[in-house]
Amino acid sequence: EAAEKGGYDHFMLKEIFEQPRVVKDTLLPRLPLDQDEILLDGISLSKEDIEKINQIYIVACGTASYTGLVGKYLVERISRIPVISEIASEFRYRDPILDENTLMIVVSQSGETADTLAALRMAKKSGAHVIGIVNAVGSTIAREADDVLYTWAGPEIAVASTKAYSAQLCAMYLISIKIAMELGKISVEEFRELRDELYAIPKKIETILEQSDKIKELAYKYKDSKNVFYIGRGLDFAVSMEGALKLKEIAYLHAEPYAAGELKHGPIALIEDGSLVVGLLAQEELFDKTVSNIKEVKARGAKVLAIALEGNTEIEKTADEVIYVPRTHWYLTSILENIPQQIFAYYIAVGLGHDVDKPRNLAKSVTVE
Ligand code: G6P
Repeated sequence: EAAEKGGYDHFMLKEIFEQPRVVKDTLLPRLPLDQDEILLDGISLSKEDIEKINQIYIVACGTASYTGLVGKYLVERISRIPVISEIASEFRYRDPILDENTLMIVVSQSGETADTLAALRMAKKSGAHVIGIVNAVGSTIAREADDVLYTWAGPEIAVASTKAYSAQLCAMYLISIKIAMELGKISVEEFRELRDELYAIPKKIETILEQSDKIKELAYKYKDSKNVFYIGRGLDFAVSMEGALKLKEIAYLHAEPYAAGELKHGPIALIEDGSLVVGLLAQEELFDKTVSNIKEVKARGAKVLAIALEGNTEIEKTADEVIYVPRTHWYLTSILENIPQQIFAYYIAVGLGHDVDKPRNLAKSVTVE
């Protein structure tokens, strides 16, 4: 097993460090530099099919489900198609509205999650077109979906998902850009700009991984926090969900994601001396709004760890700690912003002496209800 870990203490850390490679493998073969298009092997939808889509459901469980909220923000903002991002166990029992003009995207690392599979079958029965974003080649979801877009993350051993999630985000970027292009919502120039940025993502992930010693120090400093709140707006809010989940899964800390603007409607009552708030600030246009929420929690005794874009140093006046991530196109911030969250949760779990790769009560793949 030590050999399989390739010199890392845990599979989770190895998988975190594999992400530049995973992102390259998932993105680059689909983005040829000599053509102004995205080659989505395995996707059969024509331009006419895409024009007919009247709504999109993105359905999944756990970490995979957080790809859905990112997808919702991206598709609705650019392509103006209504998107519902939903957890499979809810979707399957509420008689959702589906028809032959519905596109359903299911997301699954294992391709075997029982609730996600049930949701897929329901959608197919109603005539919706189902695309699977799947990591495990030949898995049940990959076989049963109408189309499959594989995430080339390779086998993920640690129960807590890291590299598979980054690959899912890449797949979501590709599908959402493809839809926007077919609908004429982005120009060739905008596409080229996004493609250049996608090509730059692996290097940018590397620069975040280079900060892992600093993030480790922060994790050890805050590992005994009793309550941790992850806050953000827009895409940052979507990313906050994954940050909080990682901390619950492997560090067993009580961690909750909140839309920053919702704090004053209840959660702020929970803030006290010693609470830790992780503030996500990668959406430039929402930066000031989230900073004002950070000031509110600071005034009530919270410690604040901010994840911000390089250069936005004014956050140092408000936050106790800041981790910077490289700048990119606003469309792609989620993947970069999530990497420090993974490293932070990993080192808190290590610092607390937990079994990082096999957390208590959790399974890698949930094939029963
Ligand atoms: C389990 C795993 C999670 C995963 C979820 C969905 O709960 O512990 O890491 O996100 O299942 O799994 P899937 O294979 O469908 O992505």
